[in-house]
Amino acid sequence: MAGTGTGAMGSGYGRHSAAQHEGLQAAAGMLDRALRDVPVPDDGSAFRVADLGCASGTNAMEPMARTVAAVRARRAGTPVWVTHTNIPTNDFGALFSTLAGGTSYTRSPGVFACAQARSFYEPLFPPRELHLAWSSIAVHWLSGVPLPIGGHIYGSRATGEARAGLRRQSAQDWAAFLGHRAAELVPGGQLVVVGGAATDDGLSGAEGLFDLAVEELRDLVARHALIDEQLAVMTVPTWNRTEAEFTEPLLTGPFEDSFRLEEREFVVLEDPMWTRYTANGDLDAYAAEVAASFMAAFGPSLFEGPAAAGAEVARRFAEGLTARVRDRPEEGAARWRVQLLRATRL
Ligand SMILES: C[S@@+](CC[C@H](N)C(=O)[O-])C[C@H]1O[C@@H](n2cnc3c(N)ncnc32)[C@H](O)[C@@H]1O
Repeated sequence: MAGTGTGAMGSGYGRHSAAQHEGLQAAAGMLDRALRDVPVPDDGSAFRVADLGCASGTNAMEPMARTVAAVRARRAGTPVWVTHTNIPTNDFGALFSTLAGGTSYTRSPGVFACAQARSFYEPLFPPRELHLAWSSIAVHWLSGVPLPIGGHIYGSRATGEARAGLRRQSAQDWAAFLGHRAAELVPGGQLVVVGGAATDDGLSGAEGLFDLAVEELRDLVARHALIDEQLAVMTVPTWNRTEAEFTEPLLTGPFEDSFRLEEREFVVLEDPMWTRYTANGDLDAYAAEVAASFMAAFGPSLFEGPAAAGAEVARRFAEGLTARVRDRPEEGAARWRVQLLRATRL
């Protein structure tokens, strides 16, 4: 494996996750319908929820509060137990601060939260334990990258063997994710996924930003801050699946007898940073925010991954990316594509 597959967000992720938040808004209706259909225990035992790929938990507060309210509306007094999961390198301290903070859904009585540090491509719960599995903007992170992308850091720019390898890895990971959730959900249990996606041309909506990032990395090589060998192994280990890649295993593939796909919706998100910039004209603030949000999401993969480029190179990169976005603001705007899915465990 050329990449470590560590998809951990930087510790600033909670402050720079507005685009992800927009995706969650679009999924609220789907979550409500999942909470209408899901079985709620009638014996006083807990309603069990997984938040898969939680990061700092900031964007989970609203959907989990919604979950508690909906479960309680259907059966008053039902305890709710939420497990937030992520890979071990996640900043779990940030998650626990969010859970202890003023916006936390855990402030209602009878609500319990805990965390588990293990990939969602592995088993996370005992069989038939979960009522609701929720995952937002996380399943596009792969467990690893089979081959270096060659000339780029971003999967949607990969070609040839590298592209085929990413697509294969993505199919294997998605099958592992669905297989484990099929085992863990109770019959009637609901799976709601808000997934980083691509249109059929393979584009995710953030290619311009990643192209700017690659220009800056090449410039760092030209200025001897990085060497070619480091750039060659720098990868963001993601694959934004097309709607067919998401749905085929559920409709005609190995999971057609495990799940019924209830709903799907493909959404193109506006970039909230671009929207703010076009309203207030503050180019410096926009460029700084785009670079900070890029660093929060992808900095750890690029600078702490196999290239081991270190903090000083990361700082120079962020500065250079900010300048590039300031020069070409439109290219820095990311209009992420998102696939919403809801499936019932049969
Ligand atoms: C863009 S953040 C999304 C966080 C949050 N769910 C939200 O909606 O804002 C993606 C998260 O997925 C996590 N992640 C990546 N690969 C993972 C894996 N294999 N298992 C669990 N979490 C993973 C990352 O560490 C990161 O916290």
